[in-house]
Parts: sequence; C-alpha cells; structure tokens
Amino acid sequence: MPQFYCRKVKRLLTMGLNRVKTCPNIESFPKLMIIQQTVFRIAKANELDTVIALQTSASGQKSEGKLVQELVSSETTTLSLLAEFRCEIIGHVLLSQIQAPIKAVALAPLAVLAPYREMQIGSELVRYAIKLAREKGYQAIFVLGDTNYYERFGFSGSLANNFECPWQGRNFMAKELAENALKDQSGALTYPKAFLEIE
Ligand SMILES: CC(C)(COP(=O)(O)OP(=O)(O)OC[C@H]1O[C@@H](n2cnc3c(N)ncnc32)[C@H](O)[C@@H]1OP(=O)(O)O)[C@@H](O)C(=O)NCCC(=O)NCCS
Repeated sequence: MPQFYCRKVKRLLTMGLNRVKTCPNIESFPKLMIIQQTVFRIAKANELDTVIALQTSASGQKSEGKLVQELVSSETTTLSLLAEFRCEIIGHVLLSQIQAPIKAVALAPLAVLAPYREMQIGSELVRYAIKLAREKGYQAIFVLGDTNYYERFGFSGSLANNFECPWQGRNFMAKELAENALKDQSGALTYPKAFLEIE
C-alpha cells in the first residue's frame, strides 16, 4: 500500500478511536448506572496531562494541577488513582509518601468533574486509595480537608494531633491502616516540597 494510504488509514483509525472515547451526554444517564459503570484504576504515565487538566478544572485552581504535576514528576513515591466512565477520566486522587515516624502517605488532591459529583465517585476514589495504601504496607494516611467529608471514611482529627506539620488544625486528619498504627506515635511529618509551594 502506498505510504499516503497508510497514513490515511492510520488517521481514520485514530479518528475512530477518538470517537469511541467521546462520552455521551451524562445527563441522560441515571446516577446509579454511572457509578456502577465507573472503573477505578491506577493512572498510566501518559495520562498525566489529562489528570492535571481535571484537577485544575475541578478545583478551579491551577495550583492543584501543578501540585500533581510536580509530585508525579518528582522522586516522591506516588499512587495516582483514576475514576473512568466510558473512556472519560472523571475523577482523580493522589497519594504521596511523606516522611513520618510510621510509613505514611498524604492524600491530596482529590477531585471529581462537576457533572459527576454527588454520585459517590469521590467516596469510591477515597476508599480505593485507602485499600491500595493498605496493600502497599502504609500504616497511615494524612489528609487536610473537610471533616464532614473525610470522617465518613474513618479519618479523625484526634489521630493527627500528635504530629507536627504546617497544616495542623481542625481540618488536619489521619486514618490508621493497621490497628493502633498511630497509638503512642508522635513527631514531625515532612511533606514533599511541592506541598509547601502551594499558593
Ligand atoms: C469534594 C469532591 C471530591 C466530592 O466528590 P463527589 O464525588 O461529589 O463526592 P461523593 O458523591 O462521594 O460524596 C457526596 C457527599 O460528600 C459531600 N461533599 C461533597 N463535597 C464536599 C466538600 N467539599 N466538603 C464537605 N462535604 C462535601 C456531599 O454533601 C455529599 O454528602 P452526603 O453523602 O451526606 O449527601 C468534589 O466535590 C470535588 O471535586 N470538589 C472540588 C475539589 C475539592 O474541593 N476537593 C477537596 C476535597 S476535600
């Protein structure tokens, strides 16, 4: 086949793939069906740009996308987790290893695209993050966020009180991933530099 036709066929195939990737108008889908059909998985390296765009758009702040970009591109050990509905990435959460008296990660940022909110996508991402962190041998997760949201997953301010970091306060929480993992533990938490540069 001449090279020209090869290129044309390739382009048509790519267009076809792109068409498959375009999700239909979600308003026509029942919420329950969306969560049932959403896949939760680890992000691939070539999905970083999509994740950054999602974090920026969902939070309305460039800093969240920048945080993900810097953490994932740095030497920090991260776990980047996605929610995907019909080939569209609709939610994301990042876990980053921090230096702590126990083996721990920070959960941040968490975001779900606006049209997909209030469907339990964010909750499932948090539960998935908790499960994977436990499987990877982490003993605790720290988070800075809304207590009404995170307490439902077992995060607690009192568990974080004994640890020193720049975010200490009412909205700083921890969750144990093993029984009594934080009992009698205290000390400094050192976050990757990118966290300290958030505007
Ligand atoms: C926060 C966020 C991830 C929640 O995602 P979601 O998929 O809509 O959440 P879920 O459907 O799993 O949970 C919905 C519940 O969380 C509550 N909730 C949603 N956003 C909340 C927030 N920012 N603070 C406190 N509670 C919140 C809802 O009121 C609802 O409560 P209910 O179950 O008692 O009715 C999403 O709103 C988002 O991306 N926001 C912009 C980014 C952001 O603020 N991230 C920081 C997270 S602390």
